Amino acid sequence: MSDKFMDNGIDTAVVGATGAVGEVMLQILASRNFPVGELFPLASQRSMGKTVEFKDKNYPVINLETFDFSKCKLALFSAGGEISKQYVPKALEQGCFVVDNTSMFRNDDAIPLIVSEVNPDALGDNKLIANPNCSTMGMLVAVKPLYDKFGVKRIDVSTYQAVAGAGKKAISRLSEQTMDMIHMREIKAEDYDPFPCQIAFNLIPQIGDFTDNGYTTEEMKMVNETHKILEDSSIGVNVTCVRASVFYGHSMTVRMEFANSDWSVDEAREVLSVAPGLTVIDEQKDGGYPTPMNEGGGKDDVYVGRLRRDISDPRALNLWLVSDSLRKGAALNSVQIAELALEQNKL
Ligand code: A2P
Repeated sequence: MSDKFMDNGIDTAVVGATGAVGEVMLQILASRNFPVGELFPLASQRSMGKTVEFKDKNYPVINLETFDFSKCKLALFSAGGEISKQYVPKALEQGCFVVDNTSMFRNDDAIPLIVSEVNPDALGDNKLIANPNCSTMGMLVAVKPLYDKFGVKRIDVSTYQAVAGAGKKAISRLSEQTMDMIHMREIKAEDYDPFPCQIAFNLIPQIGDFTDNGYTTEEMKMVNETHKILEDSSIGVNVTCVRASVFYGHSMTVRMEFANSDWSVDEAREVLSVAPGLTVIDEQKDGGYPTPMNEGGGKDDVYVGRLRRDISDPRALNLWLVSDSLRKGAALNSVQIAELALEQNKL
């Protein structure tokens, strides 16, 4: 850490501080004792007059539109891609180190995309770091140690993603629609937003928009970001992303095809059980696996279970994975990137 901030801490802006991820960012900055100096919680005009809580104190929300980023050294962005497109360049020009949680800069070759346990060395001298997609993040925390040990050639993944990943409005929508269903009230199409159809008691096989190849933007994020983070575009990545009627905790089935069949499930479990940021719950009995209700909300680690060899192909391992999309999938990793920058004297 540079001397200037040793005593007073790092003056920090959280862009999108009133949002689902922004709120968790504030909690995580506090709980990990990140050395925040002055805090600037930023949001839109809509939030003027509101406050956010940080370390038992209330802070008035500040309007992003007129904010002078030269007041702070670190800016954590999580207010949507368009906001990042508009304001990240300003924050950089005004001297901030920026961690961007949106997809705006993730595919830019010049900008590192970092999962703290996977590729911390990618930080380099960059002042802008992109935080990966929430599902890519959870998946790679489990894939990387197996990739290093056994050489992953192909990944087949299907996700069951919680509504929290789509923001506060999405969380409210699932509660409202759940109440409507219980009280047998009709749910109208105008009440689907931000989803394309009813989410309560449903599964929606679309996250993001459709692209020309028939996959959705969320699915293509998992493909492209996996290649970029592992620096290996030879890995086959086959993805289906599904929004589930679950409040917190993204889940997924992951099938990894290794270079050969010369490994055992016990070895794979051992590799995962000592990997950073991972907890294995794989008891092969009733309830002996992670679920989004138990492990998907408020926990930092990525959880894996249901480890078994593919009976149709001895090279492949199947597993089940649960992680909190707001924590490891977004806010926690953003703060971990800031911690890396601090450790490496980049802040
Ligand atoms: P606001 O609450 O003022 O709308 P979520 O992902 O939960 O929907 O949260 C989105 C976050 O991004 C909120 O903090 C929201 O602030 C913020 N945001 C959205 N649009 C803007 C904008 N135009 N300017 C600043 N912040 C914005």
